[in-house]
Amino acid sequence: MTTDLGEIIRDPVPDHPLLNGRKEIGRGENTIVLDGDVVDGQARVFKVLSSPTDYAYYTAPDRPTGRHFPVVYADHGTAGRSSKGFPFHIVEVEKLYPLPGNGDAAELAAKISTAYFDACMTWRNLAHDMGRIALHHLAVTPMGWNETLQESLRALESFSGEYDALPDLIKADNLMMRKDGTLVFSDPVFME
Ligand SMILES: Nc1ncnc2c1ncn2[C@@H]1O[C@H](COP(=O)(O)OP(=O)(O)O)[C@@H](O)[C@H]1O
Ligand SMILES: [Mg+2]
Repeated sequence: MTTDLGEIIRDPVPDHPLLNGRKEIGRGENTIVLDGDVVDGQARVFKVLSSPTDYAYYTAPDRPTGRHFPVVYADHGTAGRSSKGFPFHIVEVEKLYPLPGNGDAAELAAKISTAYFDACMTWRNLAHDMGRIALHHLAVTPMGWNETLQESLRALESFSGEYDALPDLIKADNLMMRKDGTLVFSDPVFME
């Protein structure tokens, strides 16, 4: 199964005035997440990104935007270099929350992950292209998503194609939510 199952990044938080003294609240294979400030009532985080694909997902001019995509407040430039060999990029993003065990967002996320996984199984003989074909299937097949979600899946599909990114809609913590319960594609792609 082509999915993002690597080790969690071990690097220390890079030394940078914006990051020093902030609390670490998340870590994945490529990213360190530090708690940010609350500005006009909206909590923010600093994502310290070591993957060019993630950096593009958060900052490219044609990145997907809208209801189901993370709001980005600022690109604060680089801070040193990660052990992955890429510069760390600091991006200030809206704070998101893990999906709870139940509720509308969790149900929708489970439905997306299951449909994506099933589609991957259908096209597993395509090996490398499996994930993108599976995402294409989700984006074009009416599966009871509303139009906004369908559009978001299409946007994710074009981004993956454009930036040679592979989708990862299976790992539960890559889908998160806003306080109001909106499902957000927080980290839906990775580098091939
Ligand atoms: N916007 C956010 N707000 C709060 N926590 C986040 C946010 N984005 C990610 N996280 C947390 O940090 C972890 C790693 O982030 P993620 O973007 O999935 O990185 P990676 O690319 O390394 O998988 C997530 O599993 C989640 O717990
Ligand atoms: Mg992740």
